[in-house]
Amino acid sequence: MSTEETIGPKDSQWLGEYSQVHMNVFGTPLRVLDHGKGVRVWDIDGNEYLDFLAGIAVNSLGYAHPAWVKAVSEQAAKCAHVSNYFATEPQIELAAKLIKLAGAPEGSHVYFGNSGAEGNEAALKLAKLYGRTLAGALPAIGGKPARILALTHGFHGRTMGALSATWKPAIRKQYEPLVPNIEFVRAGDPFSLYEAFSETGLGQYGKGPVAAVILELIQGEAGVRPLPVDYVKKVRELCDINHALLIIDEVQTGIGRTGAWFAFQREDLTGGVKPDMVTFAKGVAGGFPMGGMIAFGSKLSALFTPGSHGSTFAGNPLGAAAALATLGVIEQDHLVENAEARGQQLRDAVMACGNPLFKSVRGRGLLNAIELAHPCSHAAMNWALEHGLIVNAVAPDALRLAPPLIVSEQDIDDAVAILKQIPGDLPND
Ligand SMILES: Cc1ncc(COP(=O)(O)O)c(C=O)c1O
Repeated sequence: MSTEETIGPKDSQWLGEYSQVHMNVFGTPLRVLDHGKGVRVWDIDGNEYLDFLAGIAVNSLGYAHPAWVKAVSEQAAKCAHVSNYFATEPQIELAAKLIKLAGAPEGSHVYFGNSGAEGNEAALKLAKLYGRTLAGALPAIGGKPARILALTHGFHGRTMGALSATWKPAIRKQYEPLVPNIEFVRAGDPFSLYEAFSETGLGQYGKGPVAAVILELIQGEAGVRPLPVDYVKKVRELCDINHALLIIDEVQTGIGRTGAWFAFQREDLTGGVKPDMVTFAKGVAGGFPMGGMIAFGSKLSALFTPGSHGSTFAGNPLGAAAALATLGVIEQDHLVENAEARGQQLRDAVMACGNPLFKSVRGRGLLNAIELAHPCSHAAMNWALEHGLIVNAVAPDALRLAPPLIVSEQDIDDAVAILKQIPGDLPND
């Protein structure tokens, strides 16, 4: 059964029109979705899907959660937007809440943007300001601009700064030259890090001090690949020795998804390592576009001063109300714990279901990927869609599963019942 055979008439018509008027950066969408409820979503032809992608780890509370709808509607009726010449209650409350949930020290501050890329832009800009304070960056004594180290296979967004720290050549090469002084070290390899830090020295041969290392604890877009915990500890150690900052990009891993409010709080990912900055987005506002960055401690936060960064929509009250409702439900309904328990159930059930296509499953909480026996992830994704389950071909040999945090035991059983039937002899993509 091919996608063309089963796609409904309204879907076909609208997708034809989509292509006429949209830049072709996403390819042709799979379906035109109309509405959702909980973990389920319907297309415009009325077909129902169990959504194990959640808008790519965004819809923490699923679709149309009553608390979220109420909060957004009430805030919309009060005031949807104010400029940054003014503040609103939800914005202030949200910043305080995020600092608390991150366990960030006294004096920590939040910057709000509208996406993950913007959270990372803010972090990279703050790291640049920090870099200027390092002794080795002083031109007067032969110093060089501070460098930022990013990891191979890392993904931090598509804007020019975030893209400069994003590894995948297919999405960055065509835009080079990008932001200078951002270099890649091999993910998981401490020697590559040692090497980069050892090139710091002053003078002709030195490359300049390192201002920051930016990384994801689980490399999401690379196929949900957790970094080894010993490596993460080594990164922190080398950052400390060299006065460099550690930026942890929690755009995909944050806000409960991995079974902790932030992935860095998981002992099995960091062994207790703490960041200097954390970036967040996706799940924070349960579907409202919002992102940002938390700078740990007052010294670092103080490097941003009036005019040094900003955005019209930063801290928008509608987004803040959506985020407060999302965080409130996650807390009240113990959804962080649910992510941990349902994630374990999902991984166990996937491995026990006996599908020969499934080689292994990796991830934490509700951010997981099934490693396939051969590279047929697009065929497998399409097959699942035809059978009522949304999953994502995150890599040629990996299917990403990132359902809403409200997912139930029954939903996991239902999803695995479909996954189990994916044919083992699908053609390679
Ligand atoms: C780890 C990580 N960082 C940053 C981004 C960029 O976020 P956005 O698409 O909201 O700009 C993503 C998006 O997938 C991501 O997974």
